[in-house]
Amino acid sequence: MDMLLLRTNILTVAITIAANLGLCFCGCARAEYDIDGECCPMCAPGNHVYWHCTVDTSTTCVPCPASTYTDEPNGLLSCFPCTVCDAVHQLKVQKACTRSADTICEPQEGFHCVKLNKGSCTLAVEHSECKPGQYIKQTVSLLFTGTSFSDTVCANCTYGTYSDGSLMACLPHSKCETMGLTEVNAGTASSDTKCEKVILVGVIVGVTTAVFVAVVVAFMVAYNIYKNRKARGSNESVCYRPQQATDEDS
Ligand SMILES: *[C@@H]1O[C@H](CO)[C@@H](O)[C@H](O)[C@H]1NC(C)=O
Repeated sequence: MDMLLLRTNILTVAITIAANLGLCFCGCARAEYDIDGECCPMCAPGNHVYWHCTVDTSTTCVPCPASTYTDEPNGLLSCFPCTVCDAVHQLKVQKACTRSADTICEPQEGFHCVKLNKGSCTLAVEHSECKPGQYIKQTVSLLFTGTSFSDTVCANCTYGTYSDGSLMACLPHSKCETMGLTEVNAGTASSDTKCEKVILVGVIVGVTTAVFVAVVVAFMVAYNIYKNRKARGSNESVCYRPQQATDEDS
């Protein structure tokens, strides 16, 4: 019984001491910090402590040097270094670092964020692609909790458009006629229309045909003229010869 009472007393004393110590540490007001048992006013965000306060003077604060920041009221002797948006993690700067706010990083094009800290992306991975004939309708770019998620939402290309699965929107099929070309293969949901410069062949065929027809026509015309002349010539001689014949006969 006595032992138990003693233990309880010791425990009570320990708790009281701990509580007092805690009170000592938490004794400063909200905008103050504890330094060697004294309470000093905190420095504003964007600044750090240069000299701690004394009985006579308040805290001396100075702005954070370049590429460092403090985003909360603080009693720090130095500022935090600004985060560098690491290209190795497929990140780029969304908002540059200021004295009072750290850099905000975002994923590079084609990547989405898988790790987020205080609104800044710390790790990005590549979008998974959609199937040919589909486009990437949506990418889930922010992730607050959990690790497994569908990063890409795919949707079918509509009629008259195509995509290889890597595009954010389907592209309209090329119209060969508007480019002065001839359609060889119709477009599908995953491939563009195939056009060819058949126009040149057409021109050659057309010109050749025209020349051939012209030659044939010219030949026929010439032949007709020749035939007519010949016919007229023989008529004349037919008309003439009998006269000669009669002359000779008479
Ligand atoms: C998308 O296309 C595929 C293949 O053409 C088809 O099986 C599927 O039903 C389509 N999905 C929608 C939502 O239209």
